[in-house]
Amino acid sequence: MRDYAPTGTTPDPDNPLVLHVLGARPNFVKAAPVVRGLAELGVRQGIIHTGQHYDALMSDVFFADLGLPEPIANLGVGSGSHARQTAALLTGLEDVVLEHRPTLVVVYGDVNSTLAAILVCSKLHVPTAHVEAGLRSFDREMPEEVNRVVTDALSDILFATSPDALSHLSNEGVDPARVHLVGNPMIDSLFSALDHLDPAPIRSRLGLTGRYGVATLHRPANVDDPASAKELVDAVLEVSARLPIVVPIHPRGRQRLADAGLVTGGNLLIVDPLGYVDFLSLVRGASLVVTDSGGVQEETTMLGVPCLTVRPNTERPITITHGTNRLVTPAQLAVAADRALAEGATTPSGDLPPLWDGKAGPRIARVIAAWLKGGNLSPAGQVIPPNSL
Ligand code: UD1
Ligand code: UDP
Repeated sequence: MRDYAPTGTTPDPDNPLVLHVLGARPNFVKAAPVVRGLAELGVRQGIIHTGQHYDALMSDVFFADLGLPEPIANLGVGSGSHARQTAALLTGLEDVVLEHRPTLVVVYGDVNSTLAAILVCSKLHVPTAHVEAGLRSFDREMPEEVNRVVTDALSDILFATSPDALSHLSNEGVDPARVHLVGNPMIDSLFSALDHLDPAPIRSRLGLTGRYGVATLHRPANVDDPASAKELVDAVLEVSARLPIVVPIHPRGRQRLADAGLVTGGNLLIVDPLGYVDFLSLVRGASLVVTDSGGVQEETTMLGVPCLTVRPNTERPITITHGTNRLVTPAQLAVAADRALAEGATTPSGDLPPLWDGKAGPRIARVIAAWLKGGNLSPAGQVIPPNSL
């Protein structure tokens, strides 16, 4: 494994340092292509793991599957209420940023680790870049939406994954010169893994012989309230009358969903969270995915697998217009599943999302490297045309 650890602890204008703040499962998937892209350009960098996710199956397995270098620090903040977790993140991150004095801190997505890092860096006047800027569900009851709005308001460089993000940021008064449409690094990771995504071994491990579906459920709005969890579980059970459903269960919903009847039996198979390659291999061979995940909506679009997202809204509408995703209520799930199983994946526009081509990481790295050279908070150009990179 390459050594990305910083060699000094004081700011060095001739040898800038980029730190990536990562905490939760989807962060690792988004960061890997950016870390690789910067390494290829010889940029000095390091990963700070906040420890928001800490189970081996929620963290270590991703470092292994994605080839991420060892973090230079793990803050071990763990779980807690939003206030307690964010407070631990703030104090831990302030110490580590002061210790390493990075030239730039890169944050990813919309988790609490992202929010805390942007607040800490803003107060310490450390420049920041946000990967996956400008996504909006316009649902402030989602903790992630609050994190997105605050993170984008405070970021110095904003990397957008889809064109709709550009208009959201513009409507919120973000200077377009700071925004770069670069494509989707989560899709870079998918492309990098593609040759290893063979459904056969995981199917055989799970004893699946015919067609099957996969479900992932962890949104607080779906799993925290017993009545909502019951409604959702009943709907998934109805779908499982049609075909076997494998549920790699996120630790957040495990107990509540089990209490509501989501237990192994009949056509339902509840398993531990899967590693990245195992999970995407399973999805690749699936006839149907039911989810409330953000990233899974994007990955199913690229793998051409029908995706039913059990949410009233999505911050990723491009997966509906340019992908295989449909929003459903629990009450609509079984009928929507029948339709998806009969029709297969359908994409309204017929086109995949623009720039989801596996080259987002190198684009982001090039913008960052140019910024590090210029020391200018406004890297030239609002939109990076793909051919110029
Ligand atoms: C977090 C993100 C969410 C993202 C998800 C990805 C926030 C506000 N939410 O949600 O946007 O979609 O990660 O997976 O940042 N737990 C474990 N082991 C772990 C991690 C968590 O058992 O390694 C359990 C704990 O009981 C914990 C609960 O899961 O209280 C929730 O963890 P937390 O990190 O607070 O939020 P997630 O629901 O994982
Ligand atoms: N994922 C995984 N194993 C699983 C479930 C999901 O590797 O058992 C991957 C998935 O392919 C995607 C990422 O985890 O790359 C998405 O994480 P999650 O759904 O937890 O977060 P969200 O995208 O909703 O923020």
